[in-house]
Amino acid sequence: MTITTCIFDAYGTLLDVAAAARTAAAEPGQDRLAECWPNIAQNWRLKQLHYTWLRTIMDDHTDFWAVTGDALDWAMEAEGIDDPALRARLMELYRELEAYPEVPSVLRALKAAGLNTAILSNGTPDMLNAAVASAGIGDDLDDILSVEMCGIYKPSRAVYDMVGRRFACAPGEVLFVSSNGWDAAGAAAYGFNVAWVNRGGDPVERLPGRPAHILPDLSGIPALAGV
Ligand code: LAC
Repeated sequence: MTITTCIFDAYGTLLDVAAAARTAAAEPGQDRLAECWPNIAQNWRLKQLHYTWLRTIMDDHTDFWAVTGDALDWAMEAEGIDDPALRARLMELYRELEAYPEVPSVLRALKAAGLNTAILSNGTPDMLNAAVASAGIGDDLDDILSVEMCGIYKPSRAVYDMVGRRFACAPGEVLFVSSNGWDAAGAAAYGFNVAWVNRGGDPVERLPGRPAHILPDLSGIPALAGV
């Protein structure tokens, strides 16, 4: 089936989630953070994802901005850092994460070829709009689909259902792109053609659904989409 629609995960796929801690660590007066920012970045991300799944199981949904703040609190306390101003700065930076360098040209190529393009993300509309504007990639995206429109996190099938509703397309027409192995598995089990962007060289997740393609970065996406 011809690919008509390219759907991207946001955090870790288009946007570099380590950029917030890395940027703050380079700012004046952040000597302590400069020593431990990789741990903060890693724990912040892991706890953020864990809390999405745990809150789903606990039937106690709260949005991704709140979950991101809770995860940061855990990660800072794990390093013995109690600094409300730094917390506020890191959260501010999460709204303006850098896009990976190849992202603008990949989105432009897909759009120029007439494909539908969109983000499908756990993020809230507000945080996604801010990050997309700051990265300057909004013009090459038709839409930003947030799980807040259906009230449950990935990898629920209800989230992937939003794509067919928005673009009136079958799962087989969709190329779904994620750097998260578990999201790639969920989307593949759903029936999308999946490209897993495995920047870290991780093993494939032992979950139902295997990605059709595994890439080191996004630069091969236009070719997979037939562009
Ligand atoms: C997202 C997270 C899972 O953007 O990376 O949905």
